[in-house]
Amino acid sequence: MSKPFSEACENNKEPILAVLHDVILSSDRRLLEIGAGTGQHAVYFAPAFPFLEWHPTDLSPAVPGMSMWFKEARIPSIQIPRKLDVKKDDFPKVKFDVVFTANTFHVMQWKDCKAFMKLLGHRLREGSRAVIYGPFKYNGEFTSSSNEEFDQSLKTLDPLSGIRNFEDVNSNMTKNGFELVHDYEMPAHNRTLVYRRLKFESHR
Ligand SMILES: C[S@@+](CC[C@H](N)C(=O)[O-])C[C@H]1O[C@@H](n2cnc3c(N)ncnc32)[C@H](O)[C@@H]1O
Repeated sequence: MSKPFSEACENNKEPILAVLHDVILSSDRRLLEIGAGTGQHAVYFAPAFPFLEWHPTDLSPAVPGMSMWFKEARIPSIQIPRKLDVKKDDFPKVKFDVVFTANTFHVMQWKDCKAFMKLLGHRLREGSRAVIYGPFKYNGEFTSSSNEEFDQSLKTLDPLSGIRNFEDVNSNMTKNGFELVHDYEMPAHNRTLVYRRLKFESHR
């Protein structure tokens, strides 16, 4: 098996890192990455926050590939990658200060996005943050023709995938106990949505 590679990660890693510098606090101790893909993001971001345990996860087929990156990079704060499917409640049972996910909402079916946001509400405590990077529509409108074409290509592979409406994500995050802290405009018509968990309520 050859080491997986994502050109998109190479292109977006620098602007995403700038956002993470805004979001991650020196008092934070653990970050959970969902849908970590090739692992390139973890390898680039983790050394910038050496005080933070970086917990990369994804569906099981992605884990061996990212492990190749981690073995090569030998970054002490990157934890052993583990299988995590947002459809199942298999978040590690430890406290996470930050959950980071990139380019997953348009790949997952909407019901799985909703399961993911519900899980975030159950598992994160007051003050923890969720950082969601990717393309979004606003009021049902694509922000570029390239995003519209991308959406069509996603739907030929899986009709239930596709670029999500910011408003739908935002109302679900709000319902699950989060407030929107920032909606960053990113290069190539992407966004980074940063949410903060409000006072903990366990049964939503
Ligand atoms: C387009 S890739 C993005 C990978 C990486 N975050 C990046 O930005 O390059 C989408 C990722 O979401 C993962 N994914 C899809 N469904 C998932 C689920 N139900 N739970 C967790 N991860 C999932 C896929 O395995 C894949 O690695």
